[in-house]
Amino acid sequence: MKRLNNGEIWKDTDGNDIHAHGGCIIFHDGYYYWYGEDRRADHYVSCYRSKDLASWEFRNWILGSGSQVKEYRVKTRLSLLNPDGTKVNIERPKVLFNEKTGRFVMWAHFENGKDYKDAQVAIASCDTPDGNFTYHGSFNPYGFMSRDCTLFKDEDGTAYFISAARDNADLHVYRLTDDYMNVDKLVNRLWQGEYREAPAVFKHKNTYYMLSSYCTGWAPNQCKYARADRMDGKWSMLKDIGDETTYDSQAAFVLTPGDRIFYFGDRWGGNGDKYFESSYVVYELAFKDERLEMIFSEYADIGWRENNELRSN
Ligand code: DGJ
Repeated sequence: MKRLNNGEIWKDTDGNDIHAHGGCIIFHDGYYYWYGEDRRADHYVSCYRSKDLASWEFRNWILGSGSQVKEYRVKTRLSLLNPDGTKVNIERPKVLFNEKTGRFVMWAHFENGKDYKDAQVAIASCDTPDGNFTYHGSFNPYGFMSRDCTLFKDEDGTAYFISAARDNADLHVYRLTDDYMNVDKLVNRLWQGEYREAPAVFKHKNTYYMLSSYCTGWAPNQCKYARADRMDGKWSMLKDIGDETTYDSQAAFVLTPGDRIFYFGDRWGGNGDKYFESSYVVYELAFKDERLEMIFSEYADIGWRENNELRSN
């Protein structure tokens, strides 16, 4: 099995650096698909795929400044470039497969790349996991600011979008419409005034867990987690997990293949200025006396194992 060292820029099967920060992994038709930020040239979001979570084959730049654009609702801002022709920023892209429409839907954080004042969510979709996604524009859900974000799909297909609102002070939970193309209801405003970002959600034995960081730009800080019986129910207080820098990382997402729980994080390079030196870490999460713990490791122990059911949320 190929060993992926934490804190290194991992390579794809062609030997090229993997550019997939702040992203997510979904499982579909026998493959894991890894989506993430690609800030090079005209690209925004890359897609890689793997059968074993260790060897990653580059598939496509699924969203870029030249992507096809198609409006699906009024009041979205459709451009993937600034008025002066420069690139915008598409951050923390998350993708879900919608069983009803057969489409893969992406939600991501949209900023103009200059002043971090747009605080919008961007949406794109495609009929294949690694095809060219069509861009549907960016907007403020119910008028709220929307920055660091994630998606969570429940077992019954209900999906939720979680994003930082009110200049990052609050974390909002929105239930999505059946086609995942819009927000349907704001169901929770969590930890108001706590300034949580980098949310990551998973479900374990009928309980929902959410990890998040504090807001310190690109510098790592203490990850905290909370639990709830329902996404739209009461969430617990925040508890520390990992050490004070989350072992030098910030959450991207959590993957739950079989009965294991893996935290995927970014080890950001410098203070944004060294973005391209950013690398990846994976730490296993486990329960000890009801408490969730993060297990530090020098390498990502995510390779395929015999009898491991390959699936993710
Ligand atoms: C932390 C966020 O989690 C990142 O996605 C990025 O937006 C940086 N802040 C920018 O400061």
